[in-house]
Amino acid sequence: MTTIHVQADKPGAKIDSAMWGIFFEDINFGADGGLYPELVKNRSFEFGQPLMGWKVIRNSGAEGRVFILRDAKRPRNPRHARIRVEDPGGGFVLSNEGFRGMGIRDGAEYRFSIEARGVRGDISAMRVEVAGQDNRILAEARIEGFTAEWRAYSCEMKSNGTDAQAKMNLWIEGTGELDIDMVSLFPMDTWKERENGLRPDLVRLLADLKPGFLRFPGGCIVEGFDLSQRYQWKNTVGPLNERVCNINRWNFEFKHKPAPDYYQTYGLGFYEFFLLAEDIGAKPMPIINIGMACQFNTGELVPMDGLAPYIQDALDLIEFANGPADSPWGKVRNQMGHPAPFGMRMIGIGNEQWGPQYIERYKEFASAIKAKYPDMQLIAATGSDATIFPDGNAEVAYLWSEWRKLKPEIVDEHFYRAPEWFLQNTGWYDAYDRSGPKVFVGEYASLSVALTSPENRNSWKCALYEAAFMTGLERNADLVRMSCYAPLFGHEQAWQWRPDLIWFDNLNAYGSANYYVQQAFSLNRGSHVLKAEVVETGVEGAPDPDAQTKSFHVSASFDEETGEAIVKAVNAAGAPLEAVLELKGAARIGRQAKVVLLRSKKLTDENSLQEPKKIHPEETAFPVSGGRFMFEFKPYSLTVIRVPIR
Ligand code: AHR
Repeated sequence: MTTIHVQADKPGAKIDSAMWGIFFEDINFGADGGLYPELVKNRSFEFGQPLMGWKVIRNSGAEGRVFILRDAKRPRNPRHARIRVEDPGGGFVLSNEGFRGMGIRDGAEYRFSIEARGVRGDISAMRVEVAGQDNRILAEARIEGFTAEWRAYSCEMKSNGTDAQAKMNLWIEGTGELDIDMVSLFPMDTWKERENGLRPDLVRLLADLKPGFLRFPGGCIVEGFDLSQRYQWKNTVGPLNERVCNINRWNFEFKHKPAPDYYQTYGLGFYEFFLLAEDIGAKPMPIINIGMACQFNTGELVPMDGLAPYIQDALDLIEFANGPADSPWGKVRNQMGHPAPFGMRMIGIGNEQWGPQYIERYKEFASAIKAKYPDMQLIAATGSDATIFPDGNAEVAYLWSEWRKLKPEIVDEHFYRAPEWFLQNTGWYDAYDRSGPKVFVGEYASLSVALTSPENRNSWKCALYEAAFMTGLERNADLVRMSCYAPLFGHEQAWQWRPDLIWFDNLNAYGSANYYVQQAFSLNRGSHVLKAEVVETGVEGAPDPDAQTKSFHVSASFDEETGEAIVKAVNAAGAPLEAVLELKGAARIGRQAKVVLLRSKKLTDENSLQEPKKIHPEETAFPVSGGRFMFEFKPYSLTVIRVPIR
């Protein structure tokens, strides 16, 4: 017989309200082409190939060309296109293909905007047309009255059809020369209906996780392939036409999935990240570059005597987030529309950094930040997953020995491993030293094939075994303050890395099985850990998958707001498990428990665009009679049971 003993009357360690969070990484077209819903690709002609995404079409007899000009007077956005039409013939057209097409919806409204100036002759108008894959016109509008000065023009249009791979055609009317820049087609249906807002279905999925924190903007893109490509937050704030376009390192990182059109226009920049965190009730956690490029790539270092501007960037970021509205960087935030501080309390000092060169640089950052902002919590790294970077285990041990001396508040650890590792290591943190910094499990995912394999799947097995690992994180919440799955988003047609928590195409999105596991933990966090043990007596419960791997894992918490004991149980076996649940010491037990069940018949099952809710929580009520009752845990399941105990 299997019994779950929960010590219900002795709440233990507090579970941080940020325990289950999310990690936004600009990978897999997570920002441009994803969360940032601009439909025009390469809107300001700043991609490496300045006309990437654009096509010139000369219809019967049309003559003309498009040139790219570089204007030194606009250093942050130097290029624009010059359209020269010598003969409009049957139509001189500049067409944009969007991000693997443009997702256009029937009845939805779109705002077209452009910066333009007439240079020569008489280009009298521009007809803006959104066309489906079959060339049917879904929406159109007209812009006219170009002047010799740069001016912004805009118009709105409504679509009369749906197409996931539409395109935008600009028909140029008249002859002469017209300069254009910042060509945008933006859905008006955005999260909170903001101009330059985010894609609402994707933000909804994030909000539904009720994440405790939002880590941003990545991963390796913080570091850059080399330092010239590092993420510089100051290039991502202010007016859109002054944000400096950057290549995204995932553009070229993988031979199996090159994405030569992957850039960062920073329409989704640091201001928008802070706003997103605020909107979804998550604590903002920016990660900054520490003067080191990605150590899997060039590993370039800024010399120690050149670190000052990098450190200044970090200090200015804190002022941007938290400073008064009249401070130099607080003013920028204020001008962007947010006079109140964002309440940033933590900052990641580097992403996956390692080696003594990291420690040297960390010390400089830490002392400068703490001198000015003593309450800012610092997050230090332990390299990448110890199994994948050179001498990983030794490097992690070295970094931990340094962190025990340097005492950052939080240390970040990453795990990209086989599902079995997650199932076998639910006790990973049981024996960790409690006297040093707290732990942040800042990236993890169970990989059905291997790291970076394009064959990895978001299978139920991966998700379920992660759930088992998460029971271990919860049991160790005195040490593990925060955790998040990685990466967050994957575009079905434009991903580079899988598995990912949320998948989408140009029109639809769904949460993976792993998403629902994260959600089950986050929505059922509880405020304090309760001691929970599985005790086997007599006849064994569900069979274990093999000798080293236990198949049944539990954790429990108490929710002081609702007065409930929350038990989470993973049954990783293919057979049901009858167990006694004993809530020891609970004085008053409610009559009805709430049960959230996540399960699937096969471990290979997964959600998809076609079956987005194949694996999805079922909620039921369960009658309870006293503090000891039988419960059947379904095969291959995660069960959350909430029992009123007060
Ligand atoms: O999540 C994908 C990548 O994995 C991240 O960019 C990096 O931090 C880690 O190596």
